[in-house]
Amino acid sequence: MQIGPVSGPPFGPVLGIESSCDETAAAVLDANGRILAEAVLGQESEHAPFGGVVPEIAARAHLAHLPDLVRRVMAQAGLSQAGLGFAELGGVAASGGPGLIGGLIVGSGVAKGIALAQRLPYIAVNHLEAHALTARLPGLVDTQSVPFPYLLLLISGGHCQCVAVEGVGQYRRLGGTLDDAAGEAFDKVAKLMGLPWPGGPALERLAASGDPARYAFPRPLMGRAGCDFSFSGLKTAVAQEVARQPAGALFGTVAADICASFQRAVADVLADRASHAMRMMGARSNLLIVAGGVAANGTIRAALDAAAAKNGYRLVAPPVRLCTDNAVMVAWAGIERLRLGSVNRLDFAPRPRWPLDASDMPVVPTPVTGG
Ligand code: KG4
Ligand code: ZN
Repeated sequence: MQIGPVSGPPFGPVLGIESSCDETAAAVLDANGRILAEAVLGQESEHAPFGGVVPEIAARAHLAHLPDLVRRVMAQAGLSQAGLGFAELGGVAASGGPGLIGGLIVGSGVAKGIALAQRLPYIAVNHLEAHALTARLPGLVDTQSVPFPYLLLLISGGHCQCVAVEGVGQYRRLGGTLDDAAGEAFDKVAKLMGLPWPGGPALERLAASGDPARYAFPRPLMGRAGCDFSFSGLKTAVAQEVARQPAGALFGTVAADICASFQRAVADVLADRASHAMRMMGARSNLLIVAGGVAANGTIRAALDAAAAKNGYRLVAPPVRLCTDNAVMVAWAGIERLRLGSVNRLDFAPRPRWPLDASDMPVVPTPVTGG
């Protein structure tokens, strides 16, 4: 069955699906980017006993919850756009990678099934591209979409990189982590401190009453050319400090001071690396967008804000629900691609690894083939 090339806007609302890690999410946006419905189901309680995301548990949870979640957002979207059913959609977008293969297969399968049954365009969205394009949601930064290019700092549990966002499908990775992602460092240090997973929020709470100057932890790569990151040396330094503490001493002021000193070191490193990235980007942009769960951290936001101001940039931190994994960003990336007529065939194979690299992300109007 040949559905034929996608015509440009106006097209119907787009359903977005996110299932690349441990959030099951669905959203419906109209072709202008207005959010008609959104829902996210976290799986924290299912993974917490294991101290991290267990891929098999994640895949089964996506499978158990995604169909209902899709029905829910479609019903909710139907309230603002009367008569909206699957047949009225303009397309279906799902994270096609990078991420955990089990979840990617579940989300892609649901999206392809709907696209096939309703003869709709299907868009396999690169999850990192979805984070990168979130800032362009109309009304988020400006009333219109922010123009290209701009600088993205993605700091999550799985990713840590600076990207020059030049256009849809056009990304220049300026630097990234050589070892752990920033959120991963928070999670590992929180574990050392005996805090529950995921560690970032708990560590930030404990750090709030601590002295960030008490422990002089290292600031890896700070001041070095480029904007790569490294956190494993910092994590080791914290582990050594923890090991030096007499038995039973790791609580109260000592614990708070260690957390505050670690958090300060991460904030300093991120601000320094982002400053280098802004200099690499130069006057071509004045917008630094931060995305990923770590962007929820107040100390880090403040440090990035100051760094941006020093470089003549403006820091834009989308609301936390749009910084962490969500389906609004997936639907929006789908809309950006649909507008350009760039869709995928239904035999697209989900990609656990899928770097945000222009050569790998062509924007090509593709004839859509159904079953
Ligand atoms: O973007 P996200 O929800 O999921 C992915 O990693 O894809 O990010 C989760 C990460 C976790 O490592 C978590 O510990 C960290 O973001 N995080 C924080 C804070 N809130 C979440 N890190 C530092 N401070 C926070 N307040
Ligand atoms: Zn993500």
